[in-house]
Amino acid sequence: MTPAPHPPWGWAAPGRVNLMGEHTDYNDGFVLPFAIGQRAKVAVSVRDDDLVRIHSRQTDETVETATSTSPGDVGGWAAYVAGVVWALREDGHRLPGVDLWVDSDVPIGAGLSSSAALSCSTALALDHVGEVGLDRAGVAEVARRAENDYVGAPTGVMDQLASVHGREGQALLIDTRSLEVQHQPAHFVEDGLVLLVIDTRASHSLADGDGYATRRRECERAAELLEVDALRDVTVPELARLPELADDGEVLHRRARHVVTENDRVLECAEQMRSRDWVAVADLFTTSHASMRDDFEISSDELDSACAAAESGGALGARMTGGGFGGSAIALVRREQLGTVRGCCLAAFAAEGWDEPRLFTVEPAAGAGPL
Ligand code: GLA
Repeated sequence: MTPAPHPPWGWAAPGRVNLMGEHTDYNDGFVLPFAIGQRAKVAVSVRDDDLVRIHSRQTDETVETATSTSPGDVGGWAAYVAGVVWALREDGHRLPGVDLWVDSDVPIGAGLSSSAALSCSTALALDHVGEVGLDRAGVAEVARRAENDYVGAPTGVMDQLASVHGREGQALLIDTRSLEVQHQPAHFVEDGLVLLVIDTRASHSLADGDGYATRRRECERAAELLEVDALRDVTVPELARLPELADDGEVLHRRARHVVTENDRVLECAEQMRSRDWVAVADLFTTSHASMRDDFEISSDELDSACAAAESGGALGARMTGGGFGGSAIALVRREQLGTVRGCCLAAFAAEGWDEPRLFTVEPAAGAGPL
């Protein structure tokens, strides 16, 4: 099938890095991400039938389904697009058949929310042609349902909210229980620092691997045993009962301890960012990484080495970002130290015989919108 030439790109939505708050979003907790410059773009034209044809500029593939698509019809990257069609129809919106062209420079499988970028930009395009009238929160919600219920990845809502609410120069402190989003300046660039992404290229998938889903179930069980709605509602001392409450109570205790301490670290990190105390922020990165490595067990050898190598090269602190089990780490680095930090990361990966990591810096960028 040869795709027809596409109209100009109409909508774009960014990926994100998360500064603090991993696996807290589905526990009703806090997160502190920012949208990055890398984004997915979508162009759309209306058809006079019910077909939905999705063309990827990256893979040069065309996938065909219909506006009546249901979960299971489409897999792979195109499911994030078809899932949005499905979610909008589920909400009772009538959509015309469409040709959609998608392109993206958000690295796939790198833990930088390439999937939320794709589904949020698609939601904007379909909102326009279907005259749906979604606000930002509505775009995030439709995109999340596409991912949860059509693709089958049981994620929280951080990535979609970061993608729609991003602002240049600002991080987002999000309460995932109330969905309140507070923008706050991220002045690290003015203060002579960069945020280095170390994409380990050891790919992760939230839909296939069951590590993410297992952690989510463990958190839900811990909350149930403690008789609270979510782990957001407990403190560290209250977790001490867990080992006696179930056979695997010791594991659940460590999982819950990560979530509860990580939630505190989000608030603390937001506070330290406001006072521009970057050493304190970076120390929190390091503590957070240890918690994800030892208590939540979602790190990997590559992520651990990336963080250790960055710190040995002079980074103030480093942590994995995103869902884990592969993907990327982030390091807070004084600009003059960047060359040394990069060199240490490359050398550490070469010494292990791993693929060369992809290294690039990111700054807070604008959220989803028309192009
Ligand atoms: C993925 C999910 C998010 C969040 C993070 C971990 O990015 O999509 O909802 O749970 O992992 O913090």
